[in-house]
Amino acid sequence: MNKTIIEARGVSFTYEGADSPAVDNVSLSVSQGEFLAILGRNGSGKSTFAKLLNALLLPTAGELTVNGIRPVSEDDCYAVRKSCGMVFQNPDNQIVTTIVEEDCAFGLENLGTPPAEIRRRVDEALESVGMSDFAQASPSMLSGGQKQRIAVAGVLAMRPKIIVFDESTAMLDPIGRRDVFSLARRLNIEEGITIVWITHFMEEAALADRLVVMDGGRVAMEGAPREVFAQTKRVLALGLDVPEMMKLADGLRKAGVKLPQRLMTVNEMAVELCRLKSKN
Ligand SMILES: Nc1ncnc2c1ncn2[C@@H]1O[C@H](COP(=O)(O)OP(=O)(O)O)[C@@H](O)[C@H]1O
Ligand SMILES: [Mg+2]
Repeated sequence: MNKTIIEARGVSFTYEGADSPAVDNVSLSVSQGEFLAILGRNGSGKSTFAKLLNALLLPTAGELTVNGIRPVSEDDCYAVRKSCGMVFQNPDNQIVTTIVEEDCAFGLENLGTPPAEIRRRVDEALESVGMSDFAQASPSMLSGGQKQRIAVAGVLAMRPKIIVFDESTAMLDPIGRRDVFSLARRLNIEEGITIVWITHFMEEAALADRLVVMDGGRVAMEGAPREVFAQTKRVLALGLDVPEMMKLADGLRKAGVKLPQRLMTVNEMAVELCRLKSKN
C-alpha cells in the first residue's frame, strides 16, 4: 500500500456569514500515486474541498494534512501550494502573460528561482504536455485544450506531488477534453503524480482508480467506480448519472444480447461486441 499523501480527518469549512458548512466533516485519505475522481451536484462542496487541499482556504474544523504538512502558518500554506498544484475550470482565468513560456515561468519567477533553473524546468514542462512548439506563441491563439495544457505545464514546472483539476475539462470541446484527461492520466501513471480529478463527466470518473461522491458538503459515496455506479439508484438520487456504456449495455441486455454485468467503459463495450461478432 502506498503512503498516504492527503489525509482529511473531520474537515469542515464554513464561509463567513454562511448558515451551514460548505464542507462538512469530511474524512478521506488519498494514497500517493492514486487517481481519485470527485463527483457531486453543483454546490456539493467540491471546489471548496479543492481549495482546502491547496491551502487557498483553511479548515474551520478538523485536521488536514497534505504531503506531510498541516497548513497553519503562511509558510505552511506556501509549502502546501508548492506540493499541490491546481488547474481550474476556465483556462482564460489562469493565463497571466502574453507568451506561453513566460506564462509557465510565472510561478517559478515568483519563488525567485534562478533563471537557468527556470529555463530548464519550463522546457521540461512544455515538453511533458506536448506544447514545446508553442513556447513562443501567444496563449490567445491557442484552443481551450491547449490553454489547459499550458496551465498544466505551469503547475508541473513547480514539480508538485499532487495536482487537483477542478472541472478543468468542463469548458472544452470533446477533443480538448480527451486531451487534457489523458494528459492527467499519463502524468499519474508515468510520473507518479497523485491526481484529484473533479468532474461532471461520468465517463471520466469511470476511468479513475477511486471515486468519491459529495453531497451537501459530505462524502455520500466512496469506492471503485464500478462499485459506485453499480448502485445506480443512489447515484441518480445524488443528482448524477451512470456512464453511457452502462445504459447501452442495459438496453442491449433487454434486447436479448448477452453481455457481462459491470460493463462500464467504451473499451470494455468494444471488446464484448467484438467477442459476440466473432462468435456469430
Ligand atoms: N465564496 C463563497 N462564499 C460563500 N459561499 C460560498 C462561496 N463559494 C461557494 N459557496 C457555497 O458553498 C457551497 C459549496 O460550493 P462549492 O464548493 O463551489 O461547490 P461545487 O464546487 O461542488 O459546486 C455552496 O452552497 C456555495 O453556494
Ligand atoms: Mg465547483
